[in-house]
Amino acid sequence: MRIAVAGATGRIGRLTMAALEKAGHQPVPLSRAAGADAYTGIGLADALRGADAVIDVINNPSQDAAEIVDFFGTTTRNLLAAEEQAGARHHVLLSIVGLDHNGRAPHYTGKREQERLVAGGPVPWSIVRATQFHDFAGMVAGRAERDGTALIAPLLVQPIAQADVAAALAEVAAGVPLGTRIDIAGPETQDLVDMARRTYAARGQDIRLVPTWRGPFGPDMAGEILLPGEGAWLGTTTFDDWLAAGADDGR
Ligand SMILES: NC(=O)c1ccc[n+]([C@@H]2O[C@H](COP(=O)([O-])OP(=O)(O)OC[C@H]3O[C@@H](n4cnc5c(N)ncnc54)[C@H](OP(=O)(O)O)[C@@H]3O)[C@@H](O)[C@H]2O)c1
Repeated sequence: MRIAVAGATGRIGRLTMAALEKAGHQPVPLSRAAGADAYTGIGLADALRGADAVIDVINNPSQDAAEIVDFFGTTTRNLLAAEEQAGARHHVLLSIVGLDHNGRAPHYTGKREQERLVAGGPVPWSIVRATQFHDFAGMVAGRAERDGTALIAPLLVQPIAQADVAAALAEVAAGVPLGTRIDIAGPETQDLVDMARRTYAARGQDIRLVPTWRGPFGPDMAGEILLPGEGAWLGTTTFDDWLAAGADDGR
């Protein structure tokens, strides 16, 4: 199958391109570096010519809710319109487990808009909701760090390896559109504070961690809301495997 990857140059995108190739498909890169901009629409028709399916793993680092909703809304509308025009038969979106309950982080607001447009859009679809990646604790603590101290919420998560996410996306894209959301996760639950502590240790950094619900993640994200639902697809790479391999964030 000819499968376009929107966000092909990113962390998940690169691994998804490799997973598709390994499975014998013809992956087509779609990103600004590859000459197609999903926000302006420039180059989309060329990139999607002859595509059977599209996997959307585009990302944007904005922490502003209005900006991120505009970005995910516009890129999703543009992609779906170009896919319909090109005759693509399957749109696969990478989203996040527990999105319906997740509170105030702007990124989640943008992802909810993306899911709404895909589920109501003109192209048959599948939404793959992944849990946090193994580098998530290090990323969250890194953003909060000031003068050797980082505030971090004691979230209960079930982190997944980026390569396992890519393998699941490649498999779903090659199948029939599910018309629903599926959850994918790693093999074990973890506490985010402990993950951050062990990530810093593996990277040889000495940062003091202060558990709190007063940062970007509040008590509305406590309990099991970030865990996958019943029957989730589970990757095999553990958090310990990832630490032992060097705690690389994939950038
Ligand atoms: N981090 C987590 O724990 C987690 C958990 C679950 C789901 N996710 C989801 O995973 C997805 C991928 O994340 P990532 O870390 O792999 O992202 P990333 O490394 O930041 O890559 C982003 C990609 O988007 C492309 N892009 C940005 N703007 C574009 C535009 N206007 N047109 C076309 N392409 C554009 C970039 O390529 P160019 O710069 O070349 O355009 C790049 O290929 C995100 O949607 C995120 O919500 C993350």
